[in-house]
Amino acid sequence: MMKIRDIPTAVILLLISSPVSAQLNTTNQKGVVNLTQLANFANQPKPIYITRSNTPITNRITDAGATLGRVMFYDKRLSRNNTISCASCHQQANAFGDTAIASIGVDGTTSRHSMRLVNAGFATETRFFWDERAATLEVQTTQPIRDHAEMGFSGTSGDPAFSDLVTRLTAIPEYRVLFAMTFGTATITEARIQNSLAQFVRSIQSFDSKYDVGRAQVQENQNFPNFTPQENAGKQLFLAPPNQGGAGCAGCHAPPEFAIDPNSRNNGVTASLGGGADLTNTRSPSLRDMVGPGGKSNGSFMHHGGQSTIADVINHYNLIPGDNANLDNRLRRPGGAVQSLNLSQQQKDQLAAFLRTLTGSNVYTDAKWSNPFTAANELTLIILPENATTLIKNANNTLTLRCQAAPNLTYQLQSSINLQDWTTVQQISVNETGLIEHSVALTGTPTFFRFTYTP
Ligand code: HEC
Ligand code: HEC
Repeated sequence: MMKIRDIPTAVILLLISSPVSAQLNTTNQKGVVNLTQLANFANQPKPIYITRSNTPITNRITDAGATLGRVMFYDKRLSRNNTISCASCHQQANAFGDTAIASIGVDGTTSRHSMRLVNAGFATETRFFWDERAATLEVQTTQPIRDHAEMGFSGTSGDPAFSDLVTRLTAIPEYRVLFAMTFGTATITEARIQNSLAQFVRSIQSFDSKYDVGRAQVQENQNFPNFTPQENAGKQLFLAPPNQGGAGCAGCHAPPEFAIDPNSRNNGVTASLGGGADLTNTRSPSLRDMVGPGGKSNGSFMHHGGQSTIADVINHYNLIPGDNANLDNRLRRPGGAVQSLNLSQQQKDQLAAFLRTLTGSNVYTDAKWSNPFTAANELTLIILPENATTLIKNANNTLTLRCQAAPNLTYQLQSSINLQDWTTVQQISVNETGLIEHSVALTGTPTFFRFTYTP
C-alpha cells in the first residue's frame, strides 16, 4: 500500500546565538517535492513565434497549481484500486503517450489509443480527446478518473463514485497542504482537481527541436540553415497544398505549433479498436515529438494506433483508403474523389525526415514533469526547510527572522526558553512568494524560536 510520509510539523529550530542560512537543495531529489522552492511552471520561456494558446484566463498556470497537478498526475490513489495513475498511460519517456496500442486501466483496456500530451496548451483548438468530446482541458482531466475501465471512480458497475475520491484525498494531510497552497483553503473539489491537473498538462512544453533552432533564424517558408536539403524539401511538402505540388499537411496541422485545426473533420482513418467504423475522430495531438530523441516512435499513431511508423502515416495520406460521410474536404479533390498525392518514394522520405525534426529533448528528462514518488510510492513534501532561516540584527535591538517557506500557507512563530515548552508568538500568513518574515525584540534572556506548520 502506498503512503506519503508524514510531514514534520515542527521543522525549524533556531538558536539565536547560532544563525544558519544553508539552503537545502532537494529540488530534484526522488521522492521529495520541495514546496519552498517550487519548479518554474508558470514562466517558462517559449519562442516568440509560438502564439496559439487554449489557456483560459480563469486557469492560468501557477507554480503551486502545476505542482499539485504533478503530484496527482503520478498518484495511483486517484484510481479505484490504487494501481493506475495518469502517468500509467501518459509516460514522460514517450512524450506523455503510450507505446501500447490500447492502454491498461483498472478494468480492461482503453477503447482508443492514448494521446501524447506535449504542447497540449499551444493550440487554438480548445476541445480534447480524439473525438473532441471534452469541451475544455479542465473538463477532460477528470474523465479518465470517472471512467470505469481507466481509473474506476465511475459510480456505476459497483465502482466508487467521484465523491469517494474526494473523501479519499481529503483524508491525506499532504493533499490538504497542496490544495491550501494552491487555492487558499484545503477544500478539495472536482473543479480544483481539474484546474490543477490541467495546469500541469498545459505546462508540458517542447520547443527545443531541430525545427525550433531553424525557425528561430528564418521565416517558415524559407530554407532553414540547420536543415539538410532533404529536411528542407520535406518542409516544403508539408507546407504546400496539394494543388501546388505539396502534401497539404499544414492545412490541418499548422506550424509552428503543429496542433490540429479546430475545423478539421476526420482524415479517413475510420477503423476502431473495438471493431466497426468510427467517423468521429477529428482531433490529433500536436505532431511534435512523434518520435523520441533516439528516433524511436513514442507509440503508434492515430486513434486506433493502427499506423506504427511515420511511413505508414504518409502512405495513408498519399492514398486515402476510402470516402466517408465525415471526411474533411481538404482530403477530397474537386469533383469529390478522395486524395491521391502520388508522392514518389524520395518525397515520402523527405516528408518523414521533416517530421523527425519536430522532436525536442528536454521534455523527456526535465525533473519537474517526472514522477515525484519513490519506487515504493512514497513522497515527502518539504514545507519549511530545516536550516534556511536567516537572522538579521537590526539597530533598534530587534532581530528579524526570515525563512523561505511554502507559499500561501499560515505558519506559527513559536518561542521557548527551555526547548520543551513552546508558545505561539504570532500566526503568520505567507503570500505567493513564500517568504516568512518576523521581527522579535531582544530581551537579554536567551530565547529559542521556531517556525512551525500544522496541516
Ligand atoms: C488507462 C489509460 C489512461 C489513463 C489512466 C489516463 N489516460 Fe488520458 N488518455 C488515454 C486515452 C486512451 C486517451 C484518448 C481517449 C479518447 O480520445 O477517447 C487519452 C486522452 C487524454 C487527453 C486528451 C489529449 C488531447 O490532445 O486531446 C488528456 C489531456 C489526458 N488523456 C490526460 C489524462 C489525465 C490528466 C489523466 C489522469 C487523471 C489521464 N489522462 C489518465 C488513456 C489514459
Ligand atoms: C483534413 C485535415 C488533415 C490533413 C490535411 C492532414 N491531417 Fe493528419 N490528422 C488529421 C486528423 C483529424 C487526425 C486524427 C485522426 C484519427 O486518429 O482518427 C490526424 C492525425 C495525424 C497523425 C497522427 C498523430 C498521432 O499522434 O497519432 C499524424 C502523424 C498526421 N496526422 C500527419 C499528417 C501528415 C504528415 C499530413 C500531410 C501528409 C496530414 N496529417 C494531413 C487531420 C489532417
